[in-house]
Amino acid sequence: MNVQATTQTPADHGLTQAPSIRGERLLKRLKDLGQVGALDNGGVCRLALSDADRAGRDLVVQWMKSLGMTVAVDRIGNIIATRAGRQNLAPVMTGSHIDTVRSGGLYDGNLGVLAGLEVVKTLNDAGIQTERPIQVAVFTNEEGARFAPDMLGSLVFQGDLPLEEALAAVAIDGAVLGDELQRIGYAGDTACGATRPHAFVELHIEQGPVLEHKGIDIGAVTGVQGICWIEFQLEGVSNHAGTTPMSMRKDTMAVMADIAHHVRGMTQRLGGNQVGTIGHCQLYPNLINVIPSKLTFTVDIRNTEKAVLDAAEQEVLAYAQSSAEREGVTLRWKSLARFDPVAFNPAMIDRVERNAKARGCSVIRMPSGAGHDAGIIAAMCPTSMIFVPSVKGLSHNPGELTHPHDLTAGANILLDTVLQLARA
Ligand code: HGY
Ligand code: MN
Ligand code: MN
Repeated sequence: MNVQATTQTPADHGLTQAPSIRGERLLKRLKDLGQVGALDNGGVCRLALSDADRAGRDLVVQWMKSLGMTVAVDRIGNIIATRAGRQNLAPVMTGSHIDTVRSGGLYDGNLGVLAGLEVVKTLNDAGIQTERPIQVAVFTNEEGARFAPDMLGSLVFQGDLPLEEALAAVAIDGAVLGDELQRIGYAGDTACGATRPHAFVELHIEQGPVLEHKGIDIGAVTGVQGICWIEFQLEGVSNHAGTTPMSMRKDTMAVMADIAHHVRGMTQRLGGNQVGTIGHCQLYPNLINVIPSKLTFTVDIRNTEKAVLDAAEQEVLAYAQSSAEREGVTLRWKSLARFDPVAFNPAMIDRVERNAKARGCSVIRMPSGAGHDAGIIAAMCPTSMIFVPSVKGLSHNPGELTHPHDLTAGANILLDTVLQLARA
């Protein structure tokens, strides 16, 4: 399906001038939602399908209904709200996620959902009816912080992850995803991905330093870099920290440290967009005077280049095996998530870029370093993203901040893009 790059004038919708969103209303909703799962340090913890996530979902559903939208929950818990169009055509979809990491901020994901609602509210207030329906989605477990893989809800919606496999996912705390959906009352009955969107556009904070560093207002996102998540399980021998000669140890922490050091060196050697993170580690017995016998940890490596990421993955797996063998430690591993780099639809990228300029914003084309639902939905329909700057490039951090004027600019560009696409 070809998304023609058409320029729209307000007159196309009987308007003397294009409507604009109300930034203060958007900001208030971001703050109100940020109260759900609020941390003492100003951050937010709303891990997927937790009680806090349920409360956040309930609040957003209440807002969706107050806008006159019909709300459906699908079988993986995705919330899909629809504003009817004149014609029963494939909808224009926007949205994102409201689950957060354990130490999240106010904007990651939440901005995309709440800006989508602000677009609907603005169209309602302006009395604009579009040809196509407009949908705002809240995708389940985008973060992958509690259940792997990340973008789980959009993967099931798009079809790349079987529903039953996703429902059986086990959380880092042992809970089963399907049981948690039932427990929080979001085990919906709508078939996943029943309606293929006409187009998808997601507004999101950049979560990195590029826009701020360059002094640019908007990112017209060209795609999402590849992601590789591996979990390693090491088994050695617990022993006395004082009496065991170094030559007789089977020390799982020594192996993890060796692998972590190698990953860091590999990123420096490869350069470019190669990144590597050891973000999760659990060991047993986790005591000062005992050599740890069991250790589970994760490696997150990413790159915009498929071939480089593939090679990096093989290098990490081979090095980990050799490091474990040198220490006499057994090693098992499993893939938690694996995504090739994604390229967004050129006409959609053009549209975002054009709309940013039309709003008087400076704009650059850039890839996304973070994973997003848009990276998954791109396999279903023409897709792109709109980035707004992150102050100090901070994200997945209570200090996450995007200035109100940037939030408003991004939401207005989302409004213009959705309005144009919702024309038959
Ligand atoms: O990991 C990611 O890139 C995203 O925050 N889920
Ligand atoms: Mn996000
Ligand atoms: Mn995130």
